[in-house]
Amino acid sequence: MSKNILVTGGAGYIGSHTVAELAAAGYAPVILDNLSNSHVSVIDNLRALTGQELPFFELDCTDPKALNEVFVTAGPIAGVIHFAADKAVGESVSDPLKYYRNNLGSLITLLETMRAHDCADIVFSSSCTVYGQPETLPVTEETPRKEAESPYGNTKKICEDILMDHVKSQAPIKCVALRYFNPIGAHPSALIGELPLGIPNNLVPFVTQTAAGIREQLTVFGNDYNTPDGTCIRDYIHVVDLATAHIRALQYLDNQDTGNFFDVFNVGTGQGNSVFEIIKAFEAATGMTLKHKIGPRRKGDIEKIFANVDKSAKLLDWSTTRSLSDALKSAWEWQKALGAREKRGE
Ligand code: UD1
Repeated sequence: MSKNILVTGGAGYIGSHTVAELAAAGYAPVILDNLSNSHVSVIDNLRALTGQELPFFELDCTDPKALNEVFVTAGPIAGVIHFAADKAVGESVSDPLKYYRNNLGSLITLLETMRAHDCADIVFSSSCTVYGQPETLPVTEETPRKEAESPYGNTKKICEDILMDHVKSQAPIKCVALRYFNPIGAHPSALIGELPLGIPNNLVPFVTQTAAGIREQLTVFGNDYNTPDGTCIRDYIHVVDLATAHIRALQYLDNQDTGNFFDVFNVGTGQGNSVFEIIKAFEAATGMTLKHKIGPRRKGDIEKIFANVDKSAKLLDWSTTRSLSDALKSAWEWQKALGAREKRGE
């Protein structure tokens, strides 16, 4: 029988792609989402894509009673992948309490519920934001974490600490924290992808919306950084490659029989690309011309960061198989599919 895996935030961008990969790998995903930053149509599209019924619970992960009901009604939960969190850096600065309440509260409620139901395995969504601007590149998992640049970043750091402390306690708990670099792109079916509400904060959705004529032009946030072309460098990873890392992490946890266990992995490509390189790669991949201008630096931006992924390759037996061009092409296909759906009034 397939193992039930609870995916909190399963209607979100990375969550939905992970649900698709879980189903493809023979797991039975159980989706939980409060739809605060996602849309119920994602569930229908996931059902169409996987050909599976996919149980869906619309509830908030900070609600202990409702969460308990999921564990009671969904059948034995073999493991949890915890995505449910707020993630807008700017909003976290203007409303930090929302971020601390939601991001910390949902993890604590989840861990208590897991303990009550003897569920030990959890994969946690962390972020490369915990490294701040590192002294040396690429960053390994040993690179010291820095003081967070934003309340959002701080919640990721504190959640890692909560998990480490919980693992040191008597509770049977096995945890892998995955530190994501910059996920981009969409599923090849163009049935799921990133659905930013309002004006996108992140680069690639802004690029695809500009190409689609929804935004007038892209503003490059600063070209006076200490990088070869003056623009910031990030490690952009195809979201489907990122999703598969969660499957490997679950398998890795399953292989640990040492009782309490914690480990952390970088999930990136190992390659850094500048904002200008992304614009050029998008134009080459799609044949579009992207209107853009140079603007001032964005407050809180890190100059450059990219991952060393040796540990993930070695211990998770995971590596990326999709190129930057694949990722940008899929992002554009998704944007076009969204436009077509909107035209049909869906
Ligand atoms: C940001 C967060 C990161 C978070 C992630 C989740 C910061 C400092 N980091 O990552 O903690 O985990 O989002 O969504 O906010 N850019 C432009 N023009 C744009 C948009 C972006 O030039 O319109 C540039 C940025 O300056 C940056 C790069 O594109 O150099 C990537 O930006 P973005 O996609 O927002 O990701 P991060 O800032 O790396």
